[in-house]
Amino acid sequence: MEIANRIANLSTAIFSEMEELRIEEEKKGTKMINLSIGSPDLPPPPHVVQALVEGVADPSNYGYALTKGMTELRHSISKYYLERFNVVLDPEEEVLSLMGSQDGLAHIYLAFLNQGDWALIPDPGYPIYSFGVHLAGGQIYFMPLYKENSFLPDLTQIPKEIALKAKIMMLNYPNNPNAAVANEDFYQEVVEFAKKYNILVCHDIAYAELAFDGYKPISFLSIPGARDIGVEMYSVSKSFNMAGCRLGCIVGNRNALKALETIKSNIDYGIFKPVQMAAKAALEGSNEWTQQLADVYAERRDVLVDGLNSLGWDVDKPKASMFVWAPIPNNYKSSKEFAVDLLKKTGVVVVPGSAFGIQGDRYVRFALVCSKEKLQKAIAIIGKYYNLKV
Ligand SMILES: Cc1ncc(COP(=O)(O)O)c(C=O)c1O
Repeated sequence: MEIANRIANLSTAIFSEMEELRIEEEKKGTKMINLSIGSPDLPPPPHVVQALVEGVADPSNYGYALTKGMTELRHSISKYYLERFNVVLDPEEEVLSLMGSQDGLAHIYLAFLNQGDWALIPDPGYPIYSFGVHLAGGQIYFMPLYKENSFLPDLTQIPKEIALKAKIMMLNYPNNPNAAVANEDFYQEVVEFAKKYNILVCHDIAYAELAFDGYKPISFLSIPGARDIGVEMYSVSKSFNMAGCRLGCIVGNRNALKALETIKSNIDYGIFKPVQMAAKAALEGSNEWTQQLADVYAERRDVLVDGLNSLGWDVDKPKASMFVWAPIPNNYKSSKEFAVDLLKKTGVVVVPGSAFGIQGDRYVRFALVCSKEKLQKAIAIIGKYYNLKV
């Protein structure tokens, strides 16, 4: 049996190595505090569970679903976008449901890249952005995200010959892993750049609702002209603690959506209807619930960042997302070396920044996925073993 070459490009060994090490240390009896994977630890709102239960109990929900998504769901998404982002969407042609936003992020390239075509991908970035390009047989130009540039790509640094060849650009704010946010000026610049070079922009807004201190992330589609060249992927996984019954959507440019729908209609037949009903209930629920969830993350962020700062570790407080992006101490050669050392000494599990790209290698990512009491324990134990003047 001969496995295709592309498989080699489809995983980051670091994730599995860290997981193996965690299991090994746990077997030795070390108490772990796992802040690695960004999987929500809290339950979804009760009315979401209720909608799911009712949907599951209804025998008429067990046929194939529409790839596009139930009409009622697409209407809810469109209403949500209007109320939350002031973006008008035609539920028939500008909204397409996804089996989690990952579905769209993995498959969008199949609709836009021919063999050897170029994609502009942020570094660091969520791994599927580049894996998806490999699946489609495309080539990647990495746009480095530097702290001194607020972790935004500098579009003026993209070589003209690459820009001319590029078909697609991936962006993600609030960002995973660096928790950066983007403003209207930046998005306006992106629209101009994409129009000039005829590039499809895909904006991933998976962390839209996890924002703090009064900050509200904006939709890329709220920028004039964005819909001509762009799409946005939204997800209920993190905003409503629904990662295990996930649903996402892609909204925006209708031609792009049509192309992706054609790919998807050959791969899946839509999402289990009760999950669609649950997502609809989530989007139609009160803003108060999402605000309370954001407040929980804000409190965790404060405990972790204030705690790390009190140890002398100079870590920035993010305005959004469920992550803290911490520079590693200078005396470590790589993010992996530091993350392994941290895990072995303290039982605190983080993701080495290099898992997200070369530019991540002087950082580690903490996910705010456990209680503030556990985070306090993490600070105490880190303080016991490290002198963290970075
Ligand atoms: C930036 C980003 N985009 C997309 C996803 C995938 O989310 P979903 O559950 O909607 O597939 C994740 C999941 O961690 C993410 O961090």
